[in-house]
Amino acid sequence: MAGEGILATNDVNRIEAPITFKTYLMCAFASFGGMFFGYDSGYINGVTGSSYFINLIDPGQATLSGPHNSLIVSILSAGTFFGALVAGDMADTIGRKWTVILGCGIYIIGVILQTASHGLGLLVAGRLIAGIGVGFESAIVILYMSEICPRKVRGALVAGYQFCITLGLLLASGVDYGTKSFNSPSSYRIPIGLQFIFGFILGGGLFFLPDSPRYFVKRGRIEQARKALCSVRNQPADSEYVEAELAEIIANEEYERALIPAGSWLNGWMNCFRGSVFKSNSNLRKTILGTSLQMMQQWTGINFIFYYSTPFLQSTGAIGNTFLISLIFNLVNVVCTPISFFTVDRIGRRPLLIWGALGMLICEFLVAIIGVTIGFNHTHVDALGNTVANNISAVNAQIAFIAIYIFFFAATWGPGAWIVIGEIFPLPIRSRGVALSTASNWLWNCIISVITPYMVNPTEGNLKSSVFFIWGGLCTACFVYAYFLIPETKGLSLEQVDKMMEETSPRTSSKWRPTTTFASEMGMKGKGLGAGVTEDVERKGSIF
Ligand code: BGC
Repeated sequence: MAGEGILATNDVNRIEAPITFKTYLMCAFASFGGMFFGYDSGYINGVTGSSYFINLIDPGQATLSGPHNSLIVSILSAGTFFGALVAGDMADTIGRKWTVILGCGIYIIGVILQTASHGLGLLVAGRLIAGIGVGFESAIVILYMSEICPRKVRGALVAGYQFCITLGLLLASGVDYGTKSFNSPSSYRIPIGLQFIFGFILGGGLFFLPDSPRYFVKRGRIEQARKALCSVRNQPADSEYVEAELAEIIANEEYERALIPAGSWLNGWMNCFRGSVFKSNSNLRKTILGTSLQMMQQWTGINFIFYYSTPFLQSTGAIGNTFLISLIFNLVNVVCTPISFFTVDRIGRRPLLIWGALGMLICEFLVAIIGVTIGFNHTHVDALGNTVANNISAVNAQIAFIAIYIFFFAATWGPGAWIVIGEIFPLPIRSRGVALSTASNWLWNCIISVITPYMVNPTEGNLKSSVFFIWGGLCTACFVYAYFLIPETKGLSLEQVDKMMEETSPRTSSKWRPTTTFASEMGMKGKGLGAGVTEDVERKGSIF
């Protein structure tokens, strides 16, 4: 047994060292990777609207041609989709930390190509390569953070990643605003070139951080795992807490490896799809849960707001400064995300996702109902030939409900989806499971951004604000989904989550308490590190 000679514990509450400020900062650092995600999804809308850029790609046109526009926008998602999948493999081979650093390198190359471009070809190639880098970051930062963060604050720290996504989106809209009137290559080179800084900060900073102890255990490098654990828990080399946590990780890895032998590369991927769809702890169910949770997060309709709010607001004729309202939407997103730092480890993941979906669906149906009764769907053409809503106050009320909807998303499903996918997979399939789930986020992100214009374009679906009936309906599905399928993972170590999913169903999961440690079950004898089972206070107080 790899854990021979390691000081184990059979006290379920003593498997982790107390949290220090340094631990907190070290674990929070990687969340900076969220900036890539947010900024990259956000900045392109401004660039594709700049007249200098339009003239460069489609000389003599007032706007980019449809095919060029969608190629430039969606090529990023193609890159991120494949980047996330490849990174899932890499993270088990070269480690989580080096995969993220490699991702930063790929991203920087993509940024150089885009900045140097004078036309479509190099720009698209650069965006594809940068996308691969973003795919690496978005999947592996979540994996790395979930594996190094202390269980009691894991939710809050991973929510920091979502916070950085929102900051990236906000920064992108500010930079777009600042550069939109430039009539020179700076109109696209500044927004694109700024991304260098993100690559250097994340790649450079991670260089000084240890890799995930769980990765080292998976590779059988126990001494390196011990060192990494001492570092991320800010403990001395002979710390009993570190020994106990290490014993637990090793015992869980041995237990899981006995159930899921790794085998070949193909077998590694096949393992993600093994087991019965009717067993809540089968690998197949966990893969379906992770990928569908990210799909559901996109189904909430959030990117309708972040990608299409400007044309939508303009078309109401009610808003003079649409940029200001888009900025307010972005600010609501940024300011409300930190609420989850305080709630996700106290109230729990499950209630947040259930109540969050309920809040969002109510707001979305209200927007849609106001729209068809007195709001935006009742319009006239004014003297200047613009379509204007008949009842401007009703449109303003719709906009207020959209802002409340963003509040619910930011405080619940935004961070919640990322937190849960980092926690539900057992170590043998964790990197690929997180990668598949992240790829699903980008795939649905792309699908929704491609089909949305067809739903709202006046010459096509022309749904106006009735498009919110669709988002409201999909959010209702999110509500039912969260109630029946999301397990409560707060306060548990990743190894305990594994056990919880084996012994309980999502609806009863919040009442589950750990009673034994993996180390004691696997026969790694404790040397007096506390005894027996004490009540786990972190799991108290769940509503569902
Ligand atoms: C989603 C993105 C979205 C962002 C908005 C993320 O969690 O995955 O698609 O644009 O939140 O804050």
